[in-house]
Amino acid sequence: MSEFNSKKVFISGGSSGIGKGLALAFAEAGASVFVSARGKDALERTVNELREVGTSNARFDFGVADVSDSNRVNDVSQKALDILGGLDILICNSGYAKTGTVIETEESDFRSLMDVNFFGHVNVVKAFQEHFVSQRRGEIVLLSSMLATFSIYGYGAYAASKFAITGFAQSLRQEMMTYNVRVKLFLPPTTDTPGLEKENFDKPALSKEVEMGSLLNATHSVDSVVQAFLEWFPKRKFVGYASWDSWLQYFVIRHFPELALTIADGELRSAQKRLDKKSKL
Ligand SMILES: NC(=O)c1ccc[n+]([C@@H]2O[C@H](COP(=O)([O-])OP(=O)(O)OC[C@H]3O[C@@H](n4cnc5c(N)ncnc54)[C@H](OP(=O)(O)O)[C@@H]3O)[C@@H](O)[C@H]2O)c1
Repeated sequence: MSEFNSKKVFISGGSSGIGKGLALAFAEAGASVFVSARGKDALERTVNELREVGTSNARFDFGVADVSDSNRVNDVSQKALDILGGLDILICNSGYAKTGTVIETEESDFRSLMDVNFFGHVNVVKAFQEHFVSQRRGEIVLLSSMLATFSIYGYGAYAASKFAITGFAQSLRQEMMTYNVRVKLFLPPTTDTPGLEKENFDKPALSKEVEMGSLLNATHSVDSVVQAFLEWFPKRKFVGYASWDSWLQYFVIRHFPELALTIADGELRSAQKRLDKKSKL
């Protein structure tokens, strides 16, 4: 029997991409799953799919909330606790990316990324925190990004919102440890999702060129990221990665930070040269 059988799971941003992949995987493993997001139609479709793959005694439902609105998040968390009859696993996954150079990015975009990616996770955690504290068990996973370990050209606003999650998660981990609740941080790599498609729509040409030329920037499937998450989740390790390239990237950044900068700068210069060449054709 799966270790997730009969577990009660809440996933913010569970109607698309990685969050939906996780929701389906937990449902297949016998868990009850509650998903939240802003779009009702996608949530309804997701819940129907969860019912198809899940077990007959599991519960599946959804709540509509923008994670940056703490009042809505509180309402939805209460609905989830009532419907599931408690909660074992909280996965804060919602988020979006907006790229652009700092000079071209409006202050409102910086704030919006912080509101959704950082404060969104804070709001969801705070909405369930008392439940976990009084229960004195449970698991909270915060999804961030590999760009929370090292940022590159065009990601100033997005990476800042993801770096913020790391500081929050480390402190929350110690705080919740005192209540026997485990907090973990998962860093997805570039993953083929509707969110990535939107991100690529107005990405600076130089950022795209850097990514195309980078040895360590493969695009991963949702399935492989979900599989890596499920393998990492039961382990003691605080930080989770999805792939060997993420591991290598993290290793170089942590142990050889100046080398990481040199490699990144080399990639940027080569990308600029390739773009210059293309523009002359
Ligand atoms: N895909 C990648 O390459 C990649 C890489 C590193 C990290 N990540 C991170 O992994 C997480 C999932 O990304 P993804 O690529 O799977 O994205 P996705 O396909 O766009 O799915 C995002 C989910 O979050 C929800 N969401 C977005 N903004 C929200 C808001 N303000 N309030 C509530 N829900 C919101 C979306 O539903 P609604 O739009 O209906 O609200 C959707 O369910 C994000 O935190 C992302 O930053 C992704």
